[in-house]
Amino acid sequence: MLSLEKLLSRYNPITGEMPGATMVKRHLSDLRGCFANNAAFEATLAAGNPLLYSVGAVEPAGGEGDLHYGVGMLMPGKIGNEYFMTKGHLHSWRPAAEFYFGLTGAGVMLLEDETSGQSRMVPLQANGVVYVPGYTAHRTMNVGKTPLTYIGVYPAKAGHDYSTIAKTNFRFVVVERDGQPVMIERNKL
Ligand SMILES: [Fe+2]
Repeated sequence: MLSLEKLLSRYNPITGEMPGATMVKRHLSDLRGCFANNAAFEATLAAGNPLLYSVGAVEPAGGEGDLHYGVGMLMPGKIGNEYFMTKGHLHSWRPAAEFYFGLTGAGVMLLEDETSGQSRMVPLQANGVVYVPGYTAHRTMNVGKTPLTYIGVYPAKAGHDYSTIAKTNFRFVVVERDGQPVMIERNKL
């Protein structure tokens, strides 16, 4: 039987922090290569190294049928006209799907199907659920003015593959145009 801490959690809806979770914090320097506008990236980094996001993961050891989850908190802000984003990843076990539940703030997710090459941008917001199918790279952007918080639930055996994204990046970037998030091909900026 899992400890009560693993059976029941309360997260901080502002910071996403949660007792017993393994916290990972990513600063701007951790996202080198993710933003298309490298000059804006370097200028912002020279002025400081802000926290972009944190993820508190709850991943109890168990069997293949178990679920893991993480509470994410992504700060508002932009590099040039690109919104603050997560590194994004594929699952090491490619068939693994994931549910994202929006808690607070306004965000979008970029979903890129590794098999078909198709890309989509979908809203991630309070009272909203995003289903990320298997074989799909996923990255989150905060398009609002307040911290974006969300929960991601995934199979215990999913694993995280960051290296494929680090090599190929996402094909699209999400930028602000006339106050709205739009998806543009990276090589057509
Ligand atoms: Fe994931």
